Amino acid sequence: MYKKLAACLESVRKKTDFRPKAGLILGSGLGDYADGIDVEAVVEYTEIEGFPVSTVAGHKGRFVFGYVEKMPVVIMQGRVHFYEGYSMPDVVLPTRLMGMLGAEKLMLTNAAGGVNESFRPGDFMMITDHITTGVISPLIGPNIDELGCRFPDMSEVYSRRLREVIRKSAAKCGIEIKEGVYVQFTGPNYETPAEIRMCRMWGGDAVGMSTACEAMAARHMGLEVCGISCITNLAAGVSDVKLDHKEVQETADRVSTDFKKLVTEVIAGM
Ligand code: HPA
Repeated sequence: MYKKLAACLESVRKKTDFRPKAGLILGSGLGDYADGIDVEAVVEYTEIEGFPVSTVAGHKGRFVFGYVEKMPVVIMQGRVHFYEGYSMPDVVLPTRLMGMLGAEKLMLTNAAGGVNESFRPGDFMMITDHITTGVISPLIGPNIDELGCRFPDMSEVYSRRLREVIRKSAAKCGIEIKEGVYVQFTGPNYETPAEIRMCRMWGGDAVGMSTACEAMAARHMGLEVCGISCITNLAAGVSDVKLDHKEVQETADRVSTDFKKLVTEVIAGM
């Protein structure tokens, strides 16, 4: 896996020598965020040797390098999901690559279902912690010693410092932000009402199909991590409404202006 990563790094380095300080992974609703930044270079995933390419409609697949305010960033426009059939190490390959490109901090965004009954579609939730019991660890397999240790600590995946940055950024933007625990399942099916009740008993507040594995891989490498979920729908069984990808996209699009504002403020304050 390290050789594969090194080959990917070389492919990107043939296109740009840009050194990002921060990485940003865009979830639903933020797809076009990268189009609005001060772009220095774009590298399509298909141009990177051995890189997993996303198959989800509406997900572009490219790294955008540039500046958000004055922060040099690499943005993943289109992430790779486990449910597409990639191995977990492939799912987190782009995250690791961002770290190898120079990113020391990582901001994760996603669309998620609201498990916490006080959440409403369109709410934002700062991720305080996560539960990955529903997916296999991306760190399974021979340890990549070049990146991190065999048994990495996960007691503060989402940095205390960056959580404070998010709170302050939200306040500055006049955007209300909830806080909670993100639970990752594999997807692509939505959960059953029983699974959502289980999430709630576990202490989960939101549920989704990405992010936590990326956070784990980033922490393994020692990156400072933070994350925000856009609550696009009430999770299964919270209301009588059947779950539908269209609702997820519609809600994400509806609040995308606020989400983008918040992301910019957080990156600038990182
Ligand atoms: N479940 C899982 N993933 C999701 C959901 C959900 O309800 N909404 C958006 N992504």
